[in-house]
Amino acid sequence: MSKILVVGSSNTDMVVKSAHLPLPGETVLGGQFFTFAGGKGANQAVAAAKLGGDVTFLAKVGNDALGKIAVEGFKKEGIDVSHIITDPDSHSGVALIMVEDSGENCISVASGANGKFTALDIENASELVKKASYVLVQLEIPLEAVTALVDKAFALGVPVILNPAPARPLSDKLISKLFIITPNETEAELLTGVKVTDEVSAAKAAKILREKGAKLVIITLGAKGAFLLSDQEEILIPSIQVNAVDTTAAGDTFNGALTVALSEGMEIKAAIRFANQAAAISVTRMGAQSSQPVRSELKPI
Ligand code: RIB
Repeated sequence: MSKILVVGSSNTDMVVKSAHLPLPGETVLGGQFFTFAGGKGANQAVAAAKLGGDVTFLAKVGNDALGKIAVEGFKKEGIDVSHIITDPDSHSGVALIMVEDSGENCISVASGANGKFTALDIENASELVKKASYVLVQLEIPLEAVTALVDKAFALGVPVILNPAPARPLSDKLISKLFIITPNETEAELLTGVKVTDEVSAAKAAKILREKGAKLVIITLGAKGAFLLSDQEEILIPSIQVNAVDTTAAGDTFNGALTVALSEGMEIKAAIRFANQAAAISVTRMGAQSSQPVRSELKPI
């Protein structure tokens, strides 16, 4: 089976679900509390593993109970955790998440050990990059590490899928080395200056990212679907309509699933349909990794 290397963050998500998101200074009573395994990198690694991917996860956790629990969770999903680094001087990542009844959320992250990822950590993982068929990474770790990873994979000819979340400015040089970039509307706007609201504006933003050198651009448009731009086609692939209870990690599930599909040799539009299905299922359930589907829940493409 073709190997997937996911590099990124691991968090414990402390979640309160209430009727509506509080405004600054407002207190909203009557919420329910949950603790979930989260973090963009971990969510993408777990999504890929649950769907049958052969996943190695490179991450940093603190020397604390939250980090140990997180790593145990990855092991249960069959993920290779032998390269996860424990940082003795940091706490493990924590995200405070508020979710409202519509499924919309807002998130505040204390990165802890995730913020200690360095270019040296990537250099030390060169063999892992070399063995991977795909590298999947996000922006919840320092840009220094992401850049080192993209440079390394590019030099070795290993395709990189970058989910540019949370939104941060990126150099054209970095974008030019990507096989796929998968921003959502806000991330696409930050990277291109185009306000993305629909298929037309997504096409405009995607063209800019292609001009910067990304081979394939996939802009995720939430319930509308995912817009693909390659050198051969531009197409909106609609998502499956569901009743959302919690949209946390929908993008992570999409990216993990997309990478599994590509690692199995699916062509890009089929891979996006596969990823759309997985993301749609994830928003019907609470939590990040807890909401992600296993393979048998997806219809064959
Ligand atoms: O993408 C969702 C994730 O973002 C959550 O699991 C939370 O940990 C934050 O990192």
